[in-house]
Formats: sequence, structure tokens, C-alpha cells
Amino acid sequence: MSDHHLSAVPEHVAIIMDGNGRWAKQRGLPRTMGHRKGVESVRDIVRAAGDAHIKYLTLFAFSSENWRRPESEITDLMGLLRTFIRRDLADLHRENVRIRIIGDRENLRGDLLPLLLEAEETTRANTALTLVIAFNYGSRDEIARVAARLAADVAAGRMRPEDIDAEAINARLDTAGIPDPDLIIRTSGEERLSNFLLWQAAYSELMFVPEYWPDFNRDLFFKALEKYAARDRRFGGLSKTLVAGS
Ligand code: IPE
Ligand code: IPE
Ligand code: MG
Repeated sequence: MSDHHLSAVPEHVAIIMDGNGRWAKQRGLPRTMGHRKGVESVRDIVRAAGDAHIKYLTLFAFSSENWRRPESEITDLMGLLRTFIRRDLADLHRENVRIRIIGDRENLRGDLLPLLLEAEETTRANTALTLVIAFNYGSRDEIARVAARLAADVAAGRMRPEDIDAEAINARLDTAGIPDPDLIIRTSGEERLSNFLLWQAAYSELMFVPEYWPDFNRDLFFKALEKYAARDRRFGGLSKTLVAGS
């Protein structure tokens, strides 16, 4: 029984951190206060994921569609990521956390790109949790960039059109080398993926929780992991319990 429980720990959990603005509004605060409080949840959940022996944690921090927000909020969100890396990189490195960034690296402001590259480089050899930060990330944008690279490879004679398969696509996604998410959690009660990991989510378990991201904490995270453990993943096949009990 305990073995069964252990095998039910997801290898990769991805989170759509939503509801910062509503959390702030509920308190009569500016939206930026919600984002600021959200960073505290990030710290808690990164530690909790490590403690739960999860190998990959992906956090959706800024989508390719979030450019539609007011200039001041965009500046705020970029600033928060900058502050997070500056303040937390040393701690994360000490905790053996490896950082990976996914998303389009064009259009990032000022010193943000070099800072992200530095975070990846510094932690490259770490072996505990891999923290994947999805920043300026959009799934359709990612897949379109893959298509462009495939087309270029074919045009240059490096591959034939008939060699294009799921593996060739996986190898060119921003998430190359990262296993598909086993569990995707979205906070704030919205029930949609909002252009997050569409290809990679083919067989992910989806979980929608009502709490706003700044209210999300370790306990709620462990509750979600417990619920995940009770799910029956079939991947198009038959239930394990059916096969075992037949
Ligand atoms: C999530 O909170 C953070 C980002 C999208 C960057 P929101 O800012 O989307 O908060 P709501 O959904 O407006 O409450
Ligand atoms: C998804 O949240 C993006 C992030 C959490 C970074 P949004 O708040 O941008 O999604 P929609 O607009 O409600 O679908
Ligand atoms: Mg939102």
C-alpha cells in the first residue's frame, strides 16, 4: 500500500498561478499588491514541491497574451521576476534547485534576459527539484516556433518531411528534455488552460481549485497531491485496477 502511495507522487506538477488581481481587489488593494503576495506563495510551493520529492515544478508567471495588460502592470510583473531571481537565486542554488526558463526570450525588458540566463547557468548542474519558470510563454507561440525550426531543417536538407513525428516536435519545444506534466493545477476557480502547455498536457490530470494564488499554500498543495494519487490514469489503455483484478 505504501509503495502504491509512493508511485503516485507526480514527477512533474505545473501550476497556472491565477487570481492575484482578484485577491487584491477583494481587499481594496491595487493589483500589484496581489502580485507581490503571490511571490510568497511561489516561495512556499517551491519548498513544498521539493519536500514532496517532486522532480519538476513548472510555474506560469507571464503569458504571451499578458502583453495586453496595462503598461504599468507589465512593468510590475517583469520587476517582480527580476527581484525574485536576485533575492532567491542564492537560496535556491543552495537547496540544489535547478532553474529552467521556457517561453519566448525576445522582447524581455532590460537586464531580465541576462539575469534569467545567469539563473539557468548557475544552477545547471543541480539535482534536486527543477523549477521551470514559464515567462513570456504561450503554447501556440511555442508550437509555431517549433514549426519554423522544422521547416528550416527540411529546407536545409537536414531532415525529410516524413521524419517529422511527435519525438521531433518534443525535441524542439521549449520543454525539450522535461517530462510532460502529470498534474496541472489552476488556482482562482477559472477552468481553462489559457494557452499553457497545450501539447504537453495531452494526458495531464487537470485540477481547478477555488483559492486565489496568494491564498494558495503548502496544505492546499498537499491536498491536491492527495487527490491526484486517487486518480486513475489510463493513457488510452485500460485501468490498472481492471487489469490487475481481471
Ligand atoms: C495571475 O493573476 C498572475 C498573472 C497572470 C501574471 P492575475 O493577474 O491574472 O489575477 P486575476 O485573474 O486578474 O485575478
Ligand atoms: C494565465 O492567467 C496566465 C498566467 C497565470 C501567467 P490569465 O489571467 O492571463 O488568463 P485568462 O486571461 O484569465 O485566461
Ligand atoms: Mg487571471
